[in-house]
Amino acid sequence: MRYALIGCGRVSPEHIRAAQTNGLEICALADCVPGQREENLGAFPGLADTPFYTDYREMLERERPALTAIATPSGLHAVMALDAIAAGSHVIIEKPIAMTLEDADRIAEAAAAKGAVVCNNLQNRFNPAVQELRRAVDAGRFGRILSAALQLRWHRGDDYYAQAAWRGTRALDGGAMMNQSIHGIDLVNWLLGGCPESIAAQKATLLRSIESEDIAVAALRFRTGALASLECMTIMYAGAQEETIQISGTQGMVRLGGSCAQEVEAWRFADSGPEEEAEMRRRYGASPESVYGHGHTLLYADVLAAIREGHAPLVDAAAGKQALAIVLGAYESAESGKTVAFSDAL
Ligand SMILES: NC(=O)c1ccc[n+]([C@@H]2O[C@H](COP(=O)([O-])OP(=O)(O)OC[C@H]3O[C@@H](n4cnc5c(N)ncnc54)[C@H](O)[C@@H]3O)[C@@H](O)[C@H]2O)c1
Repeated sequence: MRYALIGCGRVSPEHIRAAQTNGLEICALADCVPGQREENLGAFPGLADTPFYTDYREMLERERPALTAIATPSGLHAVMALDAIAAGSHVIIEKPIAMTLEDADRIAEAAAAKGAVVCNNLQNRFNPAVQELRRAVDAGRFGRILSAALQLRWHRGDDYYAQAAWRGTRALDGGAMMNQSIHGIDLVNWLLGGCPESIAAQKATLLRSIESEDIAVAALRFRTGALASLECMTIMYAGAQEETIQISGTQGMVRLGGSCAQEVEAWRFADSGPEEEAEMRRRYGASPESVYGHGHTLLYADVLAAIREGHAPLVDAAAGKQALAIVLGAYESAESGKTVAFSDAL
């Protein structure tokens, strides 16, 4: 299948690795800054002769990829996804899917009209420990789920925001919630059944010179009655970074931790004993890998199966819109001082 990548920046190697591992024919690369290709993708075999475009619209027109991945600044995702869908392509859109709910709707509508598959790149759903946790949820092992807690405590220094002018801006990026925490927010929402009802939040910019938040906390209510707390910060002391997700129910509790909620820290259920917890900790223990894991490759495989078999991918446009809605709801609440209710249609 002919595949193209728009955006050859920091995250682009994950896409190329995923495309190559899944046997895609990489027909073109696009970036408005030519040096980015060499800088970030120079080490990949077989890419030297791949056609490169500084104008992604020209690339879509000439190369007609069947699948296009979009890995550009977040504020450009919507327009690029709409262009790719109009050119007849399926799309994998880096997170967040868009910066507004209206744009997320436009993408979903355009894709439905064209029969295009849309996937939002929330790859942490494919982390093995997360998949195991989801199986426990699906099997009803928690009894009634009462709460979830996300703690994303990462460190992004001034040097990170200095890497590119779009980082930390309201229009093109957002802050600790929209950029870094949206993965964990998606996981909480997905594990609790995808039925957010309302949110109340506070946010602040305490240390970095950016427009968006470097710290935020929120209380999220689900239609099931379950509550979730979200603590999102990118100004943690660099030596103590972590991302944890805890799900608590009447019959069980699981906590994932490590740098990216990929390790089992606690696995306790009324229907099992310490042997299972020890086994889970052994199976999903400390991993030396990068925070990205193998998620992109598994997500690409899921998208290819969706295209082949004619169904939605695991992280479809609706999932991307829900994660975005939770972040935007938190922003609105923090700015207005009021609890924000989500639409029934979400
Ligand atoms: N899924 C993940 O875990 C993950 C990780 C990192 C980044 N991301 C997301 O990926 C996206 C890119 O992040 P990054 O860290 O690679 O950023 P980056 O700044 O390193 O790369 C963005 C690239 O887009 C290019 N670009 C900008 N405008 C363009 C245009 N009009 N046409 C073509 N190319 C253009 C830039 O030149 C740059 O090379 C963001 O949306 C970010 O949120 C996701």
